[in-house]
Amino acid sequence: MFRRYLKFVRALSIDRLGRIGVVLVTSTAVMFLLFLAANLTGVVTNAYVGLISFMTLPALFVLGLLLIPIGWYRTRKEAGLSLRELVAQRFGEEELEETPLGAPLIRTLLVMTTINVFILVVASVAGLHFMDQPNFCGTACHKVMNPEWVVYQQSPHARVACVECHVGEGVRAHIDAKLNGLRQIWLATFNTYRRPIPTPVHTLRPARETCEKCHWPEKFYGNRLKTIVHYGDDEASTPRYTTLSLKVNGTVDEGGIHWHVARDVHVRYASLDDERQEMIWVEVDRPDGTTSRYVNRRLDEEPRAEDIRTMDCVDCHNRATHIYETPEGAVETRMRLGRIDRSLPHIKKVAVAALMAEYPDAEAARRGIASGVASYYRRNHPDLLAGQARALDEAIGALQEAWTRNVHPYMNLSWGTYPSLMGHRESKGCFRCHNRDLVDEGGHWISDDCTLCHSILATDAPGPFRNLETPGEKDPLRFEQEYLRQEFLRSFRH
Ligand code: HEC
Ligand code: HEC
Ligand code: HEC
Ligand code: HEC
Ligand code: HEC
Repeated sequence: MFRRYLKFVRALSIDRLGRIGVVLVTSTAVMFLLFLAANLTGVVTNAYVGLISFMTLPALFVLGLLLIPIGWYRTRKEAGLSLRELVAQRFGEEELEETPLGAPLIRTLLVMTTINVFILVVASVAGLHFMDQPNFCGTACHKVMNPEWVVYQQSPHARVACVECHVGEGVRAHIDAKLNGLRQIWLATFNTYRRPIPTPVHTLRPARETCEKCHWPEKFYGNRLKTIVHYGDDEASTPRYTTLSLKVNGTVDEGGIHWHVARDVHVRYASLDDERQEMIWVEVDRPDGTTSRYVNRRLDEEPRAEDIRTMDCVDCHNRATHIYETPEGAVETRMRLGRIDRSLPHIKKVAVAALMAEYPDAEAARRGIASGVASYYRRNHPDLLAGQARALDEAIGALQEAWTRNVHPYMNLSWGTYPSLMGHRESKGCFRCHNRDLVDEGGHWISDDCTLCHSILATDAPGPFRNLETPGEKDPLRFEQEYLRQEFLRSFRH
């Protein structure tokens, strides 16, 4: 069998091109099968090795297959022989003799073709599978996806593959995604991609297709209690608590935050531009069959067709998994977890300042954060350095980690590049639509009542459930809401 193969291959290698072709086909096939075995057994998972074995090798394999007939074609032209004469010359007359099973040469060709097709199918399936693994998406283009990869690994979706959200169901979606991937490899190779990667992501599959594989609106039920801690800029970094009861309900009957994605509800909007921040109009179809259109009285623009969109999960959960922190949020989270010790005087203020300073790269940031924080305490609290050296080191370590997680100079990605649309703190968020500029024909706006989305059980209170003191007010809750609304609107205008 093997000798037959050798004889066959030698006859195939008709000229220099043909010989190159045969060598390519044989060597890439053997190497590919070795890589495949290494990958399947988990010996090799590196994204670059994967890129070579699952893309370059099959490509060279196909190239080799093409070179062989090209060689034949050229030789035949030069020699001026018919194909049959040439075949007889190279392989010998006996290979072409009819036997009960057909000519021996044809049989060999069939067997070889079957093997080649088999290798190609395995290569495609293995390649597609390999490219669907988060490790590949997160590291193949090295620095490009690094920010998303870093924050993804610490998110609630760290075990959900990138393709679960970024690629929809079906063959079509897969092909689209792979073509898009090829374009991205091109951009990455020639360094022409945009930094930071622009959002919103237009190629993201409809969230209802992806997110609802695992979460579905009917599941959202009742309220969700959430306590947010902020620490003051005073010496003790005093904690202040805000407790909200978020109305995450999603049923049509009871209303609530997930009402937008409940059955038979459609919210469409037209935004001023790609950023989806300023709305030109917002339309809603309600389950009872009524429809309203709220038009922005401050804008007189016609939307472009591509800026009209039906609202889905990602219009609120744009940071479902790539969760970037704000400098304040990063410090506060680490204080809450005890990684930054609140007994260090003024630590909140010092820490936020250290994070917000400009550093050209990660190394400079590590050094700058360490020296900035240490020199503050050396200057202002020299007595503390000996006693609390450990707490100080830990705080510095936590801040360095926070910086490298959130800031990626190579991608021009810094604090606030990708704000969250949740709530209304990091960006306008819900208030993109829930505001008084958008009105229907009757002059009604989409409610911005402070209790539409949450009850406020405490705001900046010394304890998680302490309400504001409101002496002299008949209805403390209403007073609080009105006070908060005024405060909030004031802060928002700036
Ligand atoms: C739980 C769903 C989910 C998973 C899992 C997921 N993503 Fe995303 N990704 C999103 C959403 C939502 C956006 C933001 C879309 C928008 O704002 O339009 C996004 C945006 C991005 C962006 C654009 C930049 C940005 O931060 O907005 C990149 C790049 C990206 N994802 C890469 C990845 C990679 C690589 C993985 C796997 C390591 C991954 N994603 C896993 C949902 C997901
Ligand atoms: C393959 C399944 C899967 C997909 C697809 C998926 N998720 Fe998740 N999601 C999960 C799991 C698992 C958790 C973690 C639950 C936990 O830790 O309690 C989670 C957690 C979350 C949370 C946090 C809940 C919390 O308790 O704070 C949000 C918000 C969320 N997902 C939104 C989304 C959105 C938006 C999308 C689409 C862009 C999406 N998910 C796609 C499985 C998925
Ligand atoms: C794209 C526009 C848009 C955005 C963004 C938006 N909403 Fe809405 N929301 C609407 C519209 C339209 C209605 C229905 C108004 C009506 O019934 O006339 C609505 C209604 C609601 C309701 C009442 C539902 C009911 O009937 O009980 C709640 C609660 C709500 N939104 C919460 C939120 C929250 C929280 C956010 C931000 C995380 C948000 N919305 C962001 C457009 C939006
Ligand atoms: C109008 C904005 C909005 C839309 C649209 C929206 N969500 Fe949410 N979602 C929220 C808010 C606000 C919360 C509460 C966040 C918190 O706990 O901090 C939430 C909470 C969640 C949670 C946590 C569940 C819980 O019970 O606490 C999950 C999971 C989730 N959403 C998934 C989804 C999915 C999937 C979709 C699309 C089908 C979706 N959301 C659509 C605003 C929205
Ligand atoms: C359209 C829905 C909606 C309306 C209206 C609304 N909020 Fe909120 N608000 C949210 C959501 C959602 C969050 C939670 C975001 C999160 O998960 O962190 C939030 C968070 C907050 C927080 C906590 C912010 C923080 O991080 O400390 C405060 C305080 C607050 N809201 C006050 C108000 C006040 C005051 C009003 C009235 C002017 C108001 N909200 C109106 C949706 C709304």
